[in-house]
Amino acid sequence: MPNVQKSTAVEGLCIRVHEQISFSRTTRTMNLFLLLLLLLLLLPLLFISFSIFFKFIWIPLKIQRHFRQQGVGGPSYRPIFGNTAEIRRRMIAEAESSRSVSFNHDGVVQRVMPHYHNWSKTYGDTFLYWFGSTARLALSDPDMIKEILVSKSGSFGKIRFNPVSKALFGEGLVALEGEKWIVHRKITGHAFNMERVKEWVPEIVDSTRNMMSKWDSGRNDTELELDVHKEFHELSADIISRTAFGSNFTQGKRIFELQEQQVALVLKALRSVYIPGFKYLPTKNNRKMWKLDEETTELIREMIEKSNNERENRKTLLACLMSPYKKDDVLNLEEIVDECKTFYFAGKETTANLLTWTFLLLGLHQEWQDKAREEVVRVCGHVAFPNAQNLSDLKIINMILNETLRLYPPAVMMMRQASEKVKLQGGLDIPVGTQLFLAMTAVHHDARIWGEDANEFNPMRFTEPRDHLASFFPFGLGPRICVGQNLAMIEAKIVTAMIVREYSFVVSPTYVHAPMQSLTLQPQYGAQIIFSRRN
Ligand code: HEM
Ligand SMILES: *[C@@H]1O[C@H](CO)[C@@H](O)[C@H](O)[C@H]1NC(C)=O
Ligand SMILES: *[C@@H]1O[C@H](CO)[C@@H](O)[C@H](O)[C@H]1NC(C)=O
Ligand SMILES: *[C@@H]1O[C@H](CO)[C@@H](O)[C@H](O)[C@H]1NC(C)=O
Ligand SMILES: *[C@@H]1O[C@H](CO)[C@@H](O)[C@H](O)[C@H]1NC(C)=O
Ligand SMILES: *[C@@H]1O[C@H](CO)[C@@H](O)[C@H](O)[C@H]1NC(C)=O
Repeated sequence: MPNVQKSTAVEGLCIRVHEQISFSRTTRTMNLFLLLLLLLLLLPLLFISFSIFFKFIWIPLKIQRHFRQQGVGGPSYRPIFGNTAEIRRRMIAEAESSRSVSFNHDGVVQRVMPHYHNWSKTYGDTFLYWFGSTARLALSDPDMIKEILVSKSGSFGKIRFNPVSKALFGEGLVALEGEKWIVHRKITGHAFNMERVKEWVPEIVDSTRNMMSKWDSGRNDTELELDVHKEFHELSADIISRTAFGSNFTQGKRIFELQEQQVALVLKALRSVYIPGFKYLPTKNNRKMWKLDEETTELIREMIEKSNNERENRKTLLACLMSPYKKDDVLNLEEIVDECKTFYFAGKETTANLLTWTFLLLGLHQEWQDKAREEVVRVCGHVAFPNAQNLSDLKIINMILNETLRLYPPAVMMMRQASEKVKLQGGLDIPVGTQLFLAMTAVHHDARIWGEDANEFNPMRFTEPRDHLASFFPFGLGPRICVGQNLAMIEAKIVTAMIVREYSFVVSPTYVHAPMQSLTLQPQYGAQIIFSRRN
């Protein structure tokens, strides 16, 4: 028994010791486990903070040093936010709240690109600034711009589009790159060639006549005050609908209305907090967007089916997009829908704004209004409408339009991004990923290029073609030059010619001169003009 007791006592001890050992072993493994857990938690944290440091501090400072060493200065990098806030909050807000007393063209650059205006004075024409943590090289040297857009265009792509532009342009020509762009460009280029655009002249004339008869029926007096900014937006939407969809432009217009609603919804979505994957949730906003998209696609599908058997609709843009240039270059329905969106947003705003500024400038400069009127009467007579053969004879109107595009370029500026490390001819070495801000408006107003009267309206400058390509590039340059240029110029010529012959006009005293960039260059408070019929 004692033996047994002993043995149990020993056993008990053993067990206790064993327990103790195993306990301390568990505590040790526990500690180890905790340590590992901590490390596991810390490692990503360490990694994240390291990559944040790398992305938001190390690399930007390295790029900044890289440019400073080449003599390119600029406002200093501020971690994470760059100079974005400064540009948005201070400069743009300041520019847009300023009111110029008189209607002159001195302040255009300052109003539409205040950061370029200010920093180029301090740091020179070429300088570096920061859009968040992305380096932006701003430049206005025509040789460099030409090299970037023409000879080295392969090294500079479009910048990646934000969701708003995506909604505006879809996956259309403006946003495409590479092989897909080549195919789409060939097809749309064919659709917009000069001969084809000339076939649309009667449509453009018709649209303009409708607008003018609407003006006349609303007229109460001999004088009529209108906000031409609004009028020309409607006109330009009407014209692009007719050219794109032929006789069924009312249906086409419905498509564009749907697009505009879509954009409003996208803008609303963007203003709320971004949650990844949120766009797939059936929220009220999302369901509306899906419905709009469905309706748009359905409408276009219908029109495609219809126009297949309508002879007269063969010359529309839609028909061109559907008839392949070569056998295998065919766009599918979705691609056609996206191109239609692109034409609408790339073509409507820009052309409407060209017309708006043209009429403001002609309202201000009566002598040029008279010259334009004399030319129209000389070329088309007193009653006939301009036709395709007359277009090249409207030389003065062409000069007026070019001078308007110089002082008030609708596109304001252009952006590119280096897709590889590039060395420019002047020796400037540009790291991959750097974005380029091509300050078109500043080039167009540069006294070193245009002379002391650079800020004055003088269409005489365009009596001869320009010798330097990149000193005037309202439609861009190189392979990605505006595909709708012929349409835009012909439309602007015809509309100007038709209105100038029928009406005399002056800028209304209620007009406040305030050019502003909002997608395109537009008058912040509208463009009030007083028209009086000439007969
Ligand atoms: C006064 C009127 C217009 C101006 C000032 C203008 C200006 C421009 C500019 C500067 C570009 C080049 C953008 C870049 O390379 O980053 C461009 C491209 C483009 N424009 Fe226009 N545009 C006008 C009218 C139109 C019209 C009427 C249409 C079509 C209906 C149109 C469709 C396009 C398209 C599709 C592109 C992209 C071309 C490509 O990337 O291959 N534009 N436009
Ligand atoms: C640039 O902006 C700063 C800060 O607002 C201002 O003091 C300076 O006068 C501006 N320079 C020019 C040339 O506009
Ligand atoms: C027509 O003219 C009268 C007097 O000039 C004015 O009171 C009235 O508001 C005008 N109506 C319209 C529609 O412009
Ligand atoms: C235009 O649309 C109407 C109504 O949808 C249709 O009846 C007509 O056939 C269409 N015309 C053409 C030329 O497509
Ligand atoms: C404009 O076109 C009409 C009709 O084709 C033609 O009679 C007229 O001579 C043209 N004007 C000029 C100046 O060529
Ligand atoms: C007017 O501008 C257009 C478009 O940029 C250009 O093709 C044309 O050569 C210009 N005309 C003159 C006389 O410079």
